[in-house]
Amino acid sequence: MHKVAVIGGDGIGPEIIDSGKIVLEAAGEKFGFDIEWTGFDIGADRYLATGELLTEDDLKELEKFQAIYFGAIGDDRVKPGILEKGILLNLRFYFDQYINLRPIRMLAGVETPLANKKPEDIDFVVVRENTEDFYVGIGSRLKGHEKKMLEVNRDLYSVKFGLDVETDSDELAYQIGVISREGASRVISYAFDMAQDRKKKVTSVDKANVLSDVYGLWRDVFLETAEKYPGTSHEFTFVDAITMWFVKNPEWFDVVVTPNMFGDIITDLGAMIQGGLGLAPGGNINPEGTSMFEPIHGSAPKYKGQNVANPLATIWAGSMLLEHLGEKEAADRVLQGIEASIREKNVTKDMGGSASTSGVGDWIARWISDS
Ligand code: IPM
Ligand code: MN
Repeated sequence: MHKVAVIGGDGIGPEIIDSGKIVLEAAGEKFGFDIEWTGFDIGADRYLATGELLTEDDLKELEKFQAIYFGAIGDDRVKPGILEKGILLNLRFYFDQYINLRPIRMLAGVETPLANKKPEDIDFVVVRENTEDFYVGIGSRLKGHEKKMLEVNRDLYSVKFGLDVETDSDELAYQIGVISREGASRVISYAFDMAQDRKKKVTSVDKANVLSDVYGLWRDVFLETAEKYPGTSHEFTFVDAITMWFVKNPEWFDVVVTPNMFGDIITDLGAMIQGGLGLAPGGNINPEGTSMFEPIHGSAPKYKGQNVANPLATIWAGSMLLEHLGEKEAADRVLQGIEASIREKNVTKDMGGSASTSGVGDWIARWISDS
């Protein structure tokens, strides 16, 4: 029996999660385990009704689970940033989900916008640092003079910036990015460990030629870590250059490890080359704590309630969730089910089919049962 927390969230979130649940249940039946789902009412509706984003109670309850199945958040009625920071980023930080794992893999039968690239050419994984960098959320906007204490308090470390800022600019804004040795080291080691079961190549992303303090430290830690894995090849890329190589030579990559913000940007590009955002899953992982699995796309509010959204990224995220729970065989079968649905053209409109959200989930669940 596995206990899994569920946050459907906003927009299409609840629908795509329902499809995913049906598929994971079918996989459980096939491979001899049950899943007990516990739903959490977290998202825009509750925020608008009560003003609550994540409560102490939510966190205390969620903490009891090894895995959270997460749909999407984002709602036109709420100013951008409130739900994203208050819910999604808050969960990632609170549970110290320091790895954001994003496989970039083009499944058979999927179309990529890259000419002449085949599934074997697009098969790598991005390991995105998920707790630091410009995402720590400290900064300010000011006119004239301001004294400010900016703090980041984490289990791993805390840091305080006591700032006394004076400017004659009309208005000025700054935001501080933080990279720590501990934070960089744990995610880079994870990437090297992961490469051991793959093609033993790790590529680091940075912008150490310009942001030389933050990404200079990242680079140092990457090099030091690489020395501990003599059989694994490693290379550096600047973030601007890697966007070029993702398009021109995706077959070069095996494991790509990146600071948080660059990881955000390059994984949308990765999603596109693997066949679109509708197919891109992600795992927010704390190997010792509560991890969270989600499609990397947003809540697509205009499609809410229409049963037309593509559930494949969510179902794939469900496969990652099963693998995380130790159900490797079931996880593989779910992925095979996704591939079968693509092969049989049982897909939603965005992929050229005419199936509904629930139709895709039901079809894959049945395929797993019959397999
Ligand atoms: C993602 C999203 C989030 C991020 C947003 C919604 C905060 O774009 O998961 O990639 O920037 O990490
Ligand atoms: Mn993103």
